[in-house]
Amino acid sequence: MTDDIHLEGSASLQQQLYQQLSQRIVEQRYPPGRRLPSSRQLAQDLGVSRNTVNAVYEQLKAEGFVRSRSGQGVFVHEDIERALQRPVPPARPRPLATAPMTLPPLPRKPVAGAGAGDDANLPFQPGLPDLDAFPIRSWNRILHHQESRRSLRGYDSIEGYAPLRQAIADYVRSARGVRCQAEQVIIAQGAQQALALIGDVLLQPGDRVFSESPGYRGARYALTRHGNPIVPVPLKQQVLDVDGLAELGPARLLFCTPTHQYPMGGVLNVAQRMALLQWAQCNQTWIVEDDYDSEFHFHNKPFAAIQGLFDNAPVLYVGSFSKTLLPALRVGYLIAPEGLVEHFAQAKRVSGGESPLLAQATIAEFMVSGQFSRHLRRMRQLYRDKWHHFQDRVSTELAGQFTPVAESAGMHLVLEGECDDLALSQWLRSRGFGSTPLSAHFIGHDARTGLVMGFASASERQIDDCVRTLSERPV
Ligand SMILES: Cc1ncc(COP(=O)(O)O)c(C=O)c1O
Repeated sequence: MTDDIHLEGSASLQQQLYQQLSQRIVEQRYPPGRRLPSSRQLAQDLGVSRNTVNAVYEQLKAEGFVRSRSGQGVFVHEDIERALQRPVPPARPRPLATAPMTLPPLPRKPVAGAGAGDDANLPFQPGLPDLDAFPIRSWNRILHHQESRRSLRGYDSIEGYAPLRQAIADYVRSARGVRCQAEQVIIAQGAQQALALIGDVLLQPGDRVFSESPGYRGARYALTRHGNPIVPVPLKQQVLDVDGLAELGPARLLFCTPTHQYPMGGVLNVAQRMALLQWAQCNQTWIVEDDYDSEFHFHNKPFAAIQGLFDNAPVLYVGSFSKTLLPALRVGYLIAPEGLVEHFAQAKRVSGGESPLLAQATIAEFMVSGQFSRHLRRMRQLYRDKWHHFQDRVSTELAGQFTPVAESAGMHLVLEGECDDLALSQWLRSRGFGSTPLSAHFIGHDARTGLVMGFASASERQIDDCVRTLSERPV
């Protein structure tokens, strides 16, 4: 009866035997009540050890596929027939032996995410910090100390680890001018979860969402995942066109990057910031402020966050440690008005629960001990040098092909130029360099073309190599 069993796959003999026997029982090729060969016989037929067969029989028994009758052997369980023939209203399932299982209707294909399926850690991948410059020794010392604390092994608060919430509140108050108390800080799994939570809490079906175009795709995906209509807000001189908002009608939310427009790099001036807040106030619109890389302004202090311009501004402030520390930590934060904290806590409770405690505690100590500020100072210097070098190479070797959209800040540079930027970005990837096509950041038509290049993750040599590669590209 077991002539059709062949153990030739790469999985272990035990796994293969289990898989083949259980499949034959489910498909009723071995009908209910049928006696299976003795373990000795089967082991001999298949050329495997008796222990292997016994282990498989034990597992099949534990899962209800077979049962043993003392002294008589092992039999396919009769319950299998009952389970398979139980009528399921309204339709009776087709006999499994003749019809393979099919899945219920699938949802529409998801929109492809940034870099999905690609190597996300290539030099020049936008958003990636310099992984080699991370102070791994000091970090590990802190991590090690935290690991030994019993109090960090259990559950904690859904809003986040209290010392980290306090450290973030202190930091954003002094470095970014944000008005907040520690109780308003909600720790999230990266800025991305913070954005998804904002959508969950504030959007009702049909609510319109405004987003900069070009803009950050991660925000667009998070805020429209329940089907809310998205309205592109064009840029004027590399910043959100605040004056144009009045013509776009009402919106529940507006997503923006006021201190360093992503990806074009412009900075909203004070008058534009005030006008944006006035517009939001008059139109009852929430502003989502993504302050993703303000730490890396090179020549002057970054503008303070718009969240801090007025008391009680209708702003949800989002920050992340992905660029200041490491993306792999998956820790970001949301600073919400007091009245919304409970809503966000509940949304977070049902969509993943607490954030990893050990990572939170390590970041908290890293910040409180002063190492975070020291690290930021070093990185600012490092990225400024890379930024100068990259701009210099581009202006010299790619003149006439690309124009760097130069702003004195950040970890990426946009090279604007006429090209099939999707194909070019893929070609560059095949040469070992990351980038994203500029056109992919636009909503709808009228996209401009070029490459978004994250120079922070590239060494000087890789910068030289990449620019040379681009200059030699086939046209
Ligand atoms: C504009 C912008 N916002 C936020 C983030 C941070 O995302 P996360 O914290 O989920 O890694 C990124 C990362 O690349 C980004 O480019």
